[in-house]
Amino acid sequence: MGNFLAGKAVAVTGAGRGIGRAVALACAAEGARVVVGDLGVSIEGASPTSEIADGVVKEIEAAGGTAVAVADDIATMAGGQRLVDVALAEYGRLDGVVCVAGILRERMLFNMSEDEWDPVLATHLKGTFTVFRAASAVMRAQGSGTLIGFTSGNHQGSVSQANYAAAKGGVISLVRSAALGLHKYGVTANAVAPVARTRMSAGVPMELKEIGEPEDVAALVVYLLSERARAEGITGQVYTVAGPKIAVWAQPRELRAAYGEGPWTPERIADFLPGTVGTDPMPLLAQLEAMSSAAQRGARPNA
Ligand SMILES: NC(=O)c1ccc[n+]([C@@H]2O[C@H](COP(=O)([O-])OP(=O)(O)OC[C@H]3O[C@@H](n4cnc5c(N)ncnc54)[C@H](O)[C@@H]3O)[C@@H](O)[C@H]2O)c1
Repeated sequence: MGNFLAGKAVAVTGAGRGIGRAVALACAAEGARVVVGDLGVSIEGASPTSEIADGVVKEIEAAGGTAVAVADDIATMAGGQRLVDVALAEYGRLDGVVCVAGILRERMLFNMSEDEWDPVLATHLKGTFTVFRAASAVMRAQGSGTLIGFTSGNHQGSVSQANYAAAKGGVISLVRSAALGLHKYGVTANAVAPVARTRMSAGVPMELKEIGEPEDVAALVVYLLSERARAEGITGQVYTVAGPKIAVWAQPRELRAAYGEGPWTPERIADFLPGTVGTDPMPLLAQLEAMSSAAQRGARPNA
């Protein structure tokens, strides 16, 4: 066992499978006491079971670590609060939260139902808020802590997962807001956009050129939770980790501005905008054809 997180208490959502499980195991192996949060649902969010979280606690204990299971729904305020309450009751402190839990309900926008939109936003975006909300109150009082959200390269947009892409874009804005709002209390907040082999990535229609294992993602999360990252002042960042690659995403900023004289009219804007402010082409638009033929080969929603 290493000691990157010695003495810390960390809560991880979605810790029963895939990346969250690897994060929980790695945190425990680096000396943290871990709250293993997982509702134990299918990829679409159905059929909950507490066995999934319990299984990871057993794995951590078998390796000599310390963990406790919480099989609640983090899409509820009570579920987010309980994760934090259990950390405080069991370990007397909370140094980090990692919001990994997620589900998918894929559908083209023009066919998407409320039942496909709401649970995806509730799990990813509200499920990060519920945990950040409860944890940040504790971290503000103790004057330290680390919040980590999980986003995706899909925050750039998605052909057939507008719900997921919108939720993941929201996670980034939530993380940046947490970084700003909690900076003076010694709390950092960052987002991770992973690409790793799990049941979720197995359904991606494109062949992913850059992909790694959940353990690669876990190593980055352990670092971000550690005093080494906190000493570097790392906050408000979005990192992709895909096997051997780690990348940092740009902060959103105005790309190009131009100023006109007098009040704008649609006519004046039509004459002015294309040649001055212009556009910033979407990289994903250039890949649409490849994505569309991959979707058709895999019989994915495309129309
Ligand atoms: N795997 C990838 O390549 C990839 C790419 C981009 C983003 N991500 C993101 O990384 C995260 C982990 O993905 P994964 O591939 O390990 O998925 P996974 O399906 O293997 O694991 C997700 C876990 O979240 C749990 N969960 C779902 N809803 C929950 C809820 N309401 N409350 C508590 N737990 C709940 C599930 O039971 C499951 O164990 C997700 O947020 C996903 O969107 C993954």
